[in-house]
Amino acid sequence: MKNYIIEENKLPKNEGHHETLFSLGNGFIGFRGSFYEKTSKTQGCFNNSFYEEHEIKYGEKLYGFPDVTESMINIPDPRNITFAIEGELVEFENEYLSEYNKKLNLKKGILETSYIYSKNNKKVKVKATALVSFNNKNLSFIKYDITPINFDGEVEIISFLNNESFALDAKDDPRVATITTKTFEVVNKILDKDIYGYTFKTFKTKKELTVLEEMNILSGDFITSEICEKEKFTQKIQFNGKRNDTISVLKINEIYLDKLKEEYLEEERTFDYQLKKQEEFLNDFWENSLIEIKNDEELTQGIRFNLFHLLQSVNSEGTFGIAAKGLTGEGYEGHNFWDTEIFIFPFFLFTKPEIAKNLLKYRYSTIEEGKRRAKELGYDKGVKFPWRTISGIECSGYYPAGTAQYHINADIAYAVDMYYKVTDDKEFMEEYGLEILNETARFFLEVGYFNEDDEFRIDGVTGPDEYTAIVNNNYYTNKMVKRNFLAAYNYNKEFNTDISKDEKKQFKKAYKNMYLPFNNKLKVTPQDDTFLEKERWDFENTEKENYPLLLHYHPMKIYKHQVCKQADVCLADFLVGEDVSEKIKRNNYDYYIDITTHDSSLSYNTYSVIACEINYLEEAYELYTKNVRLDIDNSHDNSNHGIHTAAMGGSWIGLVYGFGGMRINEKGLFFNPKTTDKLGEYSFIIKYKESKLKVTVNKKSVIYEMIDGKEIVFYDRAKKIKLDGKAKTKIIK
Ligand code: BGC
Repeated sequence: MKNYIIEENKLPKNEGHHETLFSLGNGFIGFRGSFYEKTSKTQGCFNNSFYEEHEIKYGEKLYGFPDVTESMINIPDPRNITFAIEGELVEFENEYLSEYNKKLNLKKGILETSYIYSKNNKKVKVKATALVSFNNKNLSFIKYDITPINFDGEVEIISFLNNESFALDAKDDPRVATITTKTFEVVNKILDKDIYGYTFKTFKTKKELTVLEEMNILSGDFITSEICEKEKFTQKIQFNGKRNDTISVLKINEIYLDKLKEEYLEEERTFDYQLKKQEEFLNDFWENSLIEIKNDEELTQGIRFNLFHLLQSVNSEGTFGIAAKGLTGEGYEGHNFWDTEIFIFPFFLFTKPEIAKNLLKYRYSTIEEGKRRAKELGYDKGVKFPWRTISGIECSGYYPAGTAQYHINADIAYAVDMYYKVTDDKEFMEEYGLEILNETARFFLEVGYFNEDDEFRIDGVTGPDEYTAIVNNNYYTNKMVKRNFLAAYNYNKEFNTDISKDEKKQFKKAYKNMYLPFNNKLKVTPQDDTFLEKERWDFENTEKENYPLLLHYHPMKIYKHQVCKQADVCLADFLVGEDVSEKIKRNNYDYYIDITTHDSSLSYNTYSVIACEINYLEEAYELYTKNVRLDIDNSHDNSNHGIHTAAMGGSWIGLVYGFGGMRINEKGLFFNPKTTDKLGEYSFIIKYKESKLKVTVNKKSVIYEMIDGKEIVFYDRAKKIKLDGKAKTKIIK
């Protein structure tokens, strides 16, 4: 059980970090894990579709720069509860608190906080249990218990419903950049018997969010209750407190968007019901996404923590993607990036494919805006998906490291291709997938060109490495676009679509003739046409505190050097590297790891996967553990802005694709499992087509076990394996 619990026993020093780690959410609503008894500057509550638009201010605005951007709003946090003992309000300060404990339970989906409060010789034990329902997305609960330890006397529980909130102070950090002006107003106050609340409405996007509250008394010698609304709703509930007698109340918050109020059965509003349902939901989740490192509880715990947070970040209805920080903070303004398709999507694809499908449906829902944007960028055909967005509009105000990352189109196409290879979902392809493949491919046909040698080139774009911008023939982009053309060509054939013959021919030709740079002298793949000619960054004389470089150097200084923020060539070697030899992959890894700062949290994971492939296993393990513990350890020093969902997805990729050596290609599903002394034995479960497969790897052997479903065919390196029924195969390495 330990590795399903994340716990602390001391009051946190870094409250922002603490609030992020202990966030609770269900993909629709997310709450930072702040204390209920006080307000904090960094507390927060988010809904994935409650956002405001605001103007981007440019000194020099050029044609086609986006006018506005979008920001997910920090909603007034409805969870504050405090108490008074004989008229004296609690002071939530270190000196009065002892036996503090906070526990995030990944199996039950609850957050428990407990402590002893002692002042003026009066001692109480406080225990709060919070739950944000995975089953009823609008409902969240806090059960709040107070037990007088050494006195009999009046205890008052006070619950607030706030109607104001503050954006995180971004200072000069481009990774936050929130709106500081007022974004919404209260348009309705509700007071209906015991239920009270507000409706907030954004000024420009006209989104409406209603937050309701109800306090149920579960136990205690109740005297009276009063609800009043002055600056905000406050409910005071008085009890005759008795020594060792627990007073218990249940705070129910109901949050819904755009008047879409759902009615819930009485039973669904009870805590016992919710606890039971939450656990059932999570049992199913963990059963389908088991990951276990036999002798390393901490690592197992770290991975599970990450997967739990991914689940909390994902909307299950296809109306929203996954924000870079999930619903845990204002970092990156609640925007969706390529992080979703390349780093997070695989986990859902192989464990909860219906969610993977919804993520793609969300992208599809923005396709018309993407077509409009393609035209604005000067192209007649195709779609250009935004680099960062909530509703589908391009929200990046800094185009060299934003709009210019055209690879996002190919990344989305890649996810469509993967989705079909793993699920065989024809209906999805017909309704959504093919259009995404065709429109992205069309866009690239327009962007690139055939030169006099008939090579297809893509000039003036930015690859994944954001420390290099606007280059010709970024290898990652070209290689991914090549895959995009191939997928478009193949699936049009397979589905016998009616796109023109000429277009099909063009897709094929661009695929076949894609220019891919290679440096023969170094036997290394250049990141782009000029990357290897640049001066190397002076790492030896760069002080530790000057990282991340983006906060300390002008882009002009960074861009003229060989220095990478994150994996670029190596990511291509991982995702579309079937035709690259192990030797070249090793050369690339050796070359690029030395000049990569990992200033992006997306980086460790890719290098770790490649390190596994080229048998640098100890190094792979080091990189992998850094990736897994990134938020727990706050190693990027910005976890206070929210979790790093891409790195969290990376902790699944790192084990399954990295050590497990899993790959999918035209021929099917492959494994090449490895382990190290430190990693030891590990297992994971995946869903593939209509089967569920468990893989257990140790130094001597690999066991493939079919857990459920129909016959499954796959490969262990070159060996073909067929499992039927509940069968097992043991391969001795
Ligand atoms: C990375 C991008 C990423 C973004 C959001 C940036 O630091 O360079 O690749 O998409 O963060 O996570």
